[in-house]
Amino acid sequence: MAAHDALKRFLTSVIGRKMLMAVTGLLLIGFLIAHMSGNLLIFVSPEAFNDYSHALISNPLIYIAEFGLLALFVAHLASGILVTRNNKLARPVAYQADEYAGAPSRKSIASSTMIYSGILVLLFVPLHLWSFKFGAYYESAADPGVRDLHRLVIEKFAHAGYVAWYVLAMIVIGFHLWHGFGSGFESLGVKYRKGLRRFGQALAVVIAGGFTMIPLLVYFMGEQP
Ligand code: HEM
Repeated sequence: MAAHDALKRFLTSVIGRKMLMAVTGLLLIGFLIAHMSGNLLIFVSPEAFNDYSHALISNPLIYIAEFGLLALFVAHLASGILVTRNNKLARPVAYQADEYAGAPSRKSIASSTMIYSGILVLLFVPLHLWSFKFGAYYESAADPGVRDLHRLVIEKFAHAGYVAWYVLAMIVIGFHLWHGFGSGFESLGVKYRKGLRRFGQALAVVIAGGFTMIPLLVYFMGEQP
């Protein structure tokens, strides 16, 4: 009972929610690094990409991983909304001018638009799953029994509008990570360090850049990216 009360107190406090937002956000960044790296196999060969996806989907542990991912996503979203609402309640009248104070303030376009870039991710993920995870099922000709996800990716990114949407979404996700990584560590009590913040910003560029390369190269270089 005492543990239950402590957890309740933690999750209803601003700092508790910020810490939850930080831990779940940093773990989601871990997923993005793995997902982006795996996706780059598309540039190795169709078989490399399909075999990698097959190994993931045919592993029974995938259900646990998917459940964990969903739980992280929901917890991150809920804590993000509650923290934003709390910030708004604490300052019911917004600042008149949205000026960026310059150093040592860490306020930036990325930091003040976290809720909006977050909403775009919320829109992006279900649409993305609809297109790929639940999209057309092709069987690989080279490897019967293996899903030809490579073909699906090539087909989707043959459309300019689709490529533009992905590039836009990846840039916005990049903005979210630009601020999220460093501030996540700060919420967990890691003292502010410029190096850590810069590392997070570089990571955001690598993740968003790696993802963006896929639709662009598939579109401009055709069947063999
Ligand atoms: C060019 C960029 C991307 C490509 C080509 C891509 C490709 C794919 C493919 C092919 C799958 C289906 C995997 C399968 O069913 O085995 C997938 C699943 C998924 N993608 Fe992406 N993805 C991209 C970007 C992203 C981004 C930016 C996010 C998150 C913000 C994301 C989140 C997910 C999630 C959550 C799944 C479901 C994983 C699962 O249930 O196992 N993807 N992606």
